[in-house]
Amino acid sequence: MGESVLTSGFSRVDGAMFVEGVPLERIAEAVGTPTYVYSAGRIREQYRRLESALMAALPDVPHRIHFSVKANSNLAVLRTLQELGAGVDIVSAGELFRAREAGFGGADVVFSGVGKTADELAQALAGKVLFINVESEGELLLVEQVAAEHGVVAPVTLRVNPEVTVESPHEYIRTGEKGHKFGIPYDDAEHVAMIAHALPHVQLVGLDMHIGSQIAVWEPYSSALTRLKTLLASLRAQGVNTLKWLDIGGGLAVTYDDEAPADVERFARGVAEAVRGLDVSIVLEPGRFLVAESGVLLARVLYRKRSGGKEYIITDAGMNDLVRPSHYQAYHRIDAVQDVGERVVADVVGPVCESGDFLALARDMPAVEPGDLLAVQTAGAYGFVMSSNYNSRPKPAEVLVEGDRFAVATERERLEDLVRLERAHLQWRSV
Ligand SMILES: Cc1ncc(COP(=O)(O)O)c(C=O)c1O
Repeated sequence: MGESVLTSGFSRVDGAMFVEGVPLERIAEAVGTPTYVYSAGRIREQYRRLESALMAALPDVPHRIHFSVKANSNLAVLRTLQELGAGVDIVSAGELFRAREAGFGGADVVFSGVGKTADELAQALAGKVLFINVESEGELLLVEQVAAEHGVVAPVTLRVNPEVTVESPHEYIRTGEKGHKFGIPYDDAEHVAMIAHALPHVQLVGLDMHIGSQIAVWEPYSSALTRLKTLLASLRAQGVNTLKWLDIGGGLAVTYDDEAPADVERFARGVAEAVRGLDVSIVLEPGRFLVAESGVLLARVLYRKRSGGKEYIITDAGMNDLVRPSHYQAYHRIDAVQDVGERVVADVVGPVCESGDFLALARDMPAVEPGDLLAVQTAGAYGFVMSSNYNSRPKPAEVLVEGDRFAVATERERLEDLVRLERAHLQWRSV
């Protein structure tokens, strides 16, 4: 039997692609397509890699990995990470709800996000989250008001925009440069921190940053941490003695094509050096790094056609299922689930009525035919979570694989689900 290992968690046996011990073909037969398939083993491996690197570099510095739920908020995925000891980083009441459903307690949660509502803040305070990453003076004042209404003191860190240059593949995934909407502009941060320090229903417990995504090198973290440390020292010198957390965000890169992933050992050593002697506990918020490479989007080829001298492969997965190629011009490797010898250069497109509906353009790839299965690789992060019902297409199913078994983690939406909250016959209200 011929066996070859693709990335960890994925292999080929006699030309057929497996996720751990399960043939993808088997999942397609049982659950249909399009379907996201995740390897639980691969998620665990990534978590343990990062955690071991941190433990080796930071044996004496308390630290915790808070998975960024936005990357993949499936309950079974969250549960897998919860069982490993992760906390979570959330950005909405919806993600708070999911985190709770997956078994996370309040102290496991940090609450980020640039536009939190009063209601979301109230829910976070009632749920006793570890801290709220505040992104503006206005939000700080709202936290004070909501905390006062609830008779509590809100633990708050300030998300500071360190205003550093970040090399990442698309401008939409850079968040720590001057002028970005995220965080408090660096030059304003000290002023806002002193306001926080003086507020009776807020306790300023730390500083936070998140400079972007798909960052493969240490330098931007280093420059950003240097700026946060300067701020931390200045605040402590002014008597702010409550600062005990440094949240350094997420952003660690993975391999989509042949680019180098983040060097987690280098990263951990860099963090250790940067925080030595600071007397802070560290929070990290990786999303993509923990889950991206664990997942594929399984799709079936519907048609082949030629137009204007171009080859098209039309699949049953479209931009509503995986928006990253059209939204970020992101590259996802596409493999045939069953090896085919021949190759073709083709656009791989979906059924959505948009010219921007594609999974790959001018791609040299296996010459698959209608009925064949495709595995769109590295789709475990920002895949299903960004899916939509555009063109009234039900959202895909999600499946978790563990060893030689698999389970449906999200049922495929049914047509009735599409209109569940809609009314054809309206109940008008007079004003
Ligand atoms: C505040 C915050 N933390 C963490 C992350 C996770 O980033 P990544 O998936 O690149 O690790 C994001 C992603 O946008 C974010 O906005």
